[in-house]
Amino acid sequence: MDTFVIDGGKPLRGKITISGSKNAVLPIMAASLLTSDFVEIENVPNLRDVHTMAKLLTWLGAKIDCAPPRLTIDSRRLRSFVAPYELVRTMRASILVMGPLLARFRKARVSLPGGCAIGARPIDLHLKGFQALGAAISLDAGYVELAAKDTPKRIVRLPFPSVGATENLMMYAAALPRQTTLLNASREPEISDLAAFLTAAGASVQGAGTSKLVVRGAARLQGVKHRVVPDRIEAGTYAVAATLTRGDLRLLHARPDHMAAVLDRLAEAGARVDRDVDEVRVSADRRPRALTLTTMPYPGFPTDMQAQFMSLMAVGDGTSVITETVFENRFLHAAELTRMGADISLEGRVAVIKGARCLKGAPVTASDLRASAALVLAGLVAEGKTTISRVYHLDRGYETMEKKLRSVGAAIRRKHG
Ligand code: UD1
Repeated sequence: MDTFVIDGGKPLRGKITISGSKNAVLPIMAASLLTSDFVEIENVPNLRDVHTMAKLLTWLGAKIDCAPPRLTIDSRRLRSFVAPYELVRTMRASILVMGPLLARFRKARVSLPGGCAIGARPIDLHLKGFQALGAAISLDAGYVELAAKDTPKRIVRLPFPSVGATENLMMYAAALPRQTTLLNASREPEISDLAAFLTAAGASVQGAGTSKLVVRGAARLQGVKHRVVPDRIEAGTYAVAATLTRGDLRLLHARPDHMAAVLDRLAEAGARVDRDVDEVRVSADRRPRALTLTTMPYPGFPTDMQAQFMSLMAVGDGTSVITETVFENRFLHAAELTRMGADISLEGRVAVIKGARCLKGAPVTASDLRASAALVLAGLVAEGKTTISRVYHLDRGYETMEKKLRSVGAAIRRKHG
């Protein structure tokens, strides 16, 4: 297993080009199963999760040429409606094939994703939504079986704006030759990107970016060429790196309009933030101010940036409070940050962080994707050497992170294990 070794204390200066969004490309890859025409996707990040999704689609019978930043998918001849346990358990986003498979085969058999490091993460919202859209659902040996049976309801209300459930239901609705309204839908930019893809394929999706999505499906969807939006979480992570190391980074191809909650909080912490249409520049010259923040669905502060902000606040001037409302058990990074000298106390979903003047390098272990990013950030600012093991978590969601960081002055290297 690979390890990152970081010698901290260097301010980061220069330019980083932001890759395409992981959370946008995964549902779009799944959505390509809806059409038997050729799909071409551009600005695809070279990530382990993208290759895992490509493997799943190949297993289902699609022909894939995965050469990031370009990816083509030909789903003319699918051979299976089963998403097997071996693939689904390595990546929860695999369950996004449920809607497209149900549309293509009128049935689907998808393994339950199982537990994961950041809480229970059930799929009940997906299943309730499919039931409302006329599917009969049964559970068998760890698999969910769906079969298109009843007349779909015209209006479906999600009890919580789950990103994945919204995407799964949108994809299925795009293949129903009727109008479906999804209420309390999630509003993330990745939903808007999927809506753009489905619209280009011949469906109509109105209201993307609001909590009411009106989807008019088409019995036959056509091939699409689509460019994925930039990754707002990757950009946000490097924006924190600039603030934390008192550096100055220009993030090229970032979309500041997708990052308002994060950039506003960095400005509040004392960073200088300059926003352009497709670029953001973040610099800082002092210790960050303490913050109080609560994670919320978009446009609120993203849970996927919570761990990185905890690293920032670990060296903040004063006491910060983070409340995590989206996931349970998403503070696994706190214990590792404590090993580096952070003063963090946890009570349920609330973390209280007393800012220290400095962190000290230490051997730490990555536990999930964003927690790993938080440890890299802490390592960049800590005095001395930090060794992060299990960095395969980072390879799931950050394209060549160590190279991008090295190019702006970080002393970080990968040790192959
Ligand atoms: C997506 C993102 C992930 C991000 C999350 C929240 C992808 C590939 N992943 O994950 O990076 O952290 O949105 O912004 O896009 N829930 C249920 N029942 C369900 C579905 C969800 O209880 O059927 C709960 C989850 O356990 C969690 C919360 O709802 O506590 C949010 O989950 P959801 O929005 O569905 O996240 P994902 O789509 O899994």
